[in-house]
Amino acid sequence: MTSRQLLTVGQDRFRVGPWHAGDGVAYLALAPQRSEPSTDSVRGCLRRIADAGYSSVITSALHPDEARSFLAIGFEERDRLRVLSHDLRDLDPPHPQLDGSTVVRRGRRGDRDAALGVDGRAFSDFWRLDRAAMVDAERATPTTRFRVADSDGRIAGYAITGRGGAQGFLQRLATDPEMAGRGVGSALVIDALRWAARRRCRRLLVNTQEENARALELYRRLGFTPTATDLVVLHRPVP
Ligand SMILES: CC(C)(COP(=O)(O)OP(=O)(O)OC[C@H]1O[C@@H](n2cnc3c(N)ncnc32)[C@H](O)[C@@H]1OP(=O)(O)O)[C@@H](O)C(=O)NCCC(=O)NCCS
Repeated sequence: MTSRQLLTVGQDRFRVGPWHAGDGVAYLALAPQRSEPSTDSVRGCLRRIADAGYSSVITSALHPDEARSFLAIGFEERDRLRVLSHDLRDLDPPHPQLDGSTVVRRGRRGDRDAALGVDGRAFSDFWRLDRAAMVDAERATPTTRFRVADSDGRIAGYAITGRGGAQGFLQRLATDPEMAGRGVGSALVIDALRWAARRRCRRLLVNTQEENARALELYRRLGFTPTATDLVVLHRPVP
């Protein structure tokens, strides 16, 4: 199990693979399905992860209902994520405030490495994306938009936004710390809002760790409001 793959256990489907290449941590996500996974399926999945030689496992962001079967077999909460929503009807976001040398443009295949570099500098080592995880983020929704902030040919930030049905999802947002505080993050979020509204989404959702005050403040300033439900990321050692 060296890349992320689909695993069917009982009636349930999971996506499983390395968290970061070579670190011994498995990533476990629920594949889209109608109901919560059963405890037996999660246990079976954990067995397969153990057989593949991983030492611990971390889940994707789970709704509290989805988390129940995981908690029942010894998973524990690692992080709690706030889910924020922006209504897209009558959208009127502020104009991006970028210096004259920075533009937001379509991300090209050749921009991926630079975007991963930005991601690695913006997030702590544990939360950075590697290539497989970035591909996963792009495939998480039927339609995806990869945008970069280009500052004189250098990638200053990037965003991945997806659409599924009438909802948009800001999947990932990062600004190079060297370029922080210059409006790059805001410009990428405004770009995502406009795109989702053009695609007739009713709302744009984003989630972020509850202690990420800077991101939460940025979203609040741009008109996002908290939803009632938090998501949880769970982990446990592999038995
Ligand atoms: C959150 C994050 C994307 C913000 O990016 P950013 O490019 O610094 O964001 P902005 O510059 O648009 O806004 C941030 C701040 O700069 C200020 N600012 C915006 N435009 C500015 C400008 N032209 N000149 C000076 N300051 C400006 C804003 O008022 C804001 O104020 P704050 O310092 O009180 O937060 C960035 O910090 C990051 O990548 N963090 C790590 C990853 C992360 O948390 N991602 C999002 C959650 S998943």
